[in-house]
Amino acid sequence: MPKTSTENRAWIDEAIRRVDADANRSADTHLHVLPIPVPGIELYLKDESVHPTGSLKHRLARSLFLYALCNGWVGPNTTIIEASSGSTAVSEAYFARLIGLAFVAVMPASTSAEKIALIEFYGGKSHLVEDPGQVYDEARRLESECNGHYMDQFTFAERATDWRGNNNIAESIFDQMKAELHPIPSWVVISAGTGGTSATIGRFVRYRRFPTRVAVADPENSAFYGGWESDRSDFTTCVPSRIEGIGRMRVEPSFVGGVIDEMLQVPDAASIAAMRWVSTILGRAVGGSTGTNIWASLQIIDRMRAAGETGSVVTLLCDGGERYLGTYYNDDWLIENDLDIAPHLKTLEEFAKTGIFTP
Ligand SMILES: Cc1ncc(COP(=O)(O)O)c(C=O)c1O
Repeated sequence: MPKTSTENRAWIDEAIRRVDADANRSADTHLHVLPIPVPGIELYLKDESVHPTGSLKHRLARSLFLYALCNGWVGPNTTIIEASSGSTAVSEAYFARLIGLAFVAVMPASTSAEKIALIEFYGGKSHLVEDPGQVYDEARRLESECNGHYMDQFTFAERATDWRGNNNIAESIFDQMKAELHPIPSWVVISAGTGGTSATIGRFVRYRRFPTRVAVADPENSAFYGGWESDRSDFTTCVPSRIEGIGRMRVEPSFVGGVIDEMLQVPDAASIAAMRWVSTILGRAVGGSTGTNIWASLQIIDRMRAAGETGSVVTLLCDGGERYLGTYYNDDWLIENDLDIAPHLKTLEEFAKTGIFTP
């Protein structure tokens, strides 16, 4: 990006004002209590689906735009490009429109139709690739082809987000826990796509010297677990994750293993069973990665119960289920994808009765 001219500087000032004004108009997301029959232990859901663009990625997209604008990487004629599994692209399309720029999302062809429609609703274009592993190079290629700027969430998520505060997701959670029975959570359980959310929460917990531990739940076929377990950042897998938004075939640059205390692998059928189970309790549909978070949270809660521990556990409701009606909420799709959720649903129903979770 050439040196910033005076005109560009005025345009950048106005663009930043608009992004800030959007934040100023937005309320913080809720923290729900999810009732569980385990005496002395409470489970909380941080509801990121209520952001204007419906997912936790609204925060990240805002940070990435401010980071790029303040670095002088984006000007009045820049086309914004992102490689995404969908959620980030939906949020980035919103911010691109807010500051009057074109937006192109490079996504796997398997991305849900609902997400593609949402990106186009915000004025974005979808550029689909057959091989999910190709999204990075294709985004880079488009960037050089059309005076573009590749936002590259996988590299910059952990850098663009202010992990010390500034109303990041961690600060918001700890603020909202202040009046609870166990205000300092024993555990925060999240899953990883870029790894940015777990990096932010893990750093914040250490920075504020809270005793809280951070656990990351990983779906099938993801490289994060293997990479963390073997301390290898070059760990890869060759099959893409089936739980949209989380699990990657490589350990993404924004994944910071050093701030994670534990990782748990969650079967995809269990993620979808937990997604449906918690949707019934909440009375509204949640997304697949929320199911992954819930299943792992119940594993940790059961371990606390067995050890006679009391305390609170916080996890994330990452996005709404309306984006997955054609997949995770469709029984034919489950059969086509060989996902039998019945045994996992039984485990959850047993837990609801007894408070004992035996996956
Ligand atoms: C639905 C959903 N859940 C969870 C995540 C994981 O968040 P992060 O990228 O901060 O690791 C993503 C990321 O794209 C997502 O789309």
